Amino acid sequence: MDGMSAAAKPATAVVAGSKVPRHVGIIMDGNGRWAAARGLPRALGHKAGAEAARRTIEAAGEAGIGWLTLFAFSSENWRRPADEVQDLTLLLRHYLSHEVSRLVKEGVRLRVIGERERFGPDLLRAILRAEEATEGGTRLNLNVALSYGGRAEIVTAAREIARRAAAGRLDPESVDEECFGSFLGTAGMPDPDLIIRTSGEQRLSNFLLWQSAYAEFVFQDVLWPDYGASHLAAACGEYARRDRRYGARAA
Ligand code: FPP
Repeated sequence: MDGMSAAAKPATAVVAGSKVPRHVGIIMDGNGRWAAARGLPRALGHKAGAEAARRTIEAAGEAGIGWLTLFAFSSENWRRPADEVQDLTLLLRHYLSHEVSRLVKEGVRLRVIGERERFGPDLLRAILRAEEATEGGTRLNLNVALSYGGRAEIVTAAREIARRAAAGRLDPESVDEECFGSFLGTAGMPDPDLIIRTSGEQRLSNFLLWQSAYAEFVFQDVLWPDYGASHLAAACGEYARRDRRYGARAA
């Protein structure tokens, strides 16, 4: 933990120079611990986490990051106690209906990846409305991963490919990496260059498994509700210093 609250820090530009990651994925971790450290209910940790998400989206837009994917609810999060699942669902619905005008103003295009149907009709409607309202955004593409799991996404793609092949609508020989990727929730999007996880944990937890094959990983020792522009700047600075070789030999 670096002590200073994100709100107290200046919104510094993310990186000087040209090695700005095109696509950043963030595993937002530590809401519960943040709340526990303050004697607050977990729901208030998630609420503060939504504010950190707002700050980070704004900072990503300012930094010229083209794509940002936030892991807001994993397939495994359904196993949490029912009241926490309900708190998270209500928070997401509130966010989706109240943040849309701000996203439009900031030029953000929002898309949801994951099994959105599992949240029921109300949240589903809010997702569709938010996606439609922000369709014209060109400054930042924001993906919110909801009821998302990388393995489930890969299995769904494989099943659909098998179905089409069995029906004679797809030649199995034509299935290559590009074709496979076009059956994922991230079809048409660039792979993440940088994956960030907060709270000091160092795991991928089923996030963008296929897509992060060549991503750089940065683990930051800050609880998500404290996250802000300066932390994103630090992660992007670390990324800019790395030498990405994609399996090739060092020059
Ligand atoms: C991990 O903290 C965080 C989550 C499971 C939920 C993430 C949701 C938000 C940040 C709010 C909504 C986001 C948007 C985009 C509106 P944890 O509960 O696992 O924390 P812990 O590991 O300290 O218990």
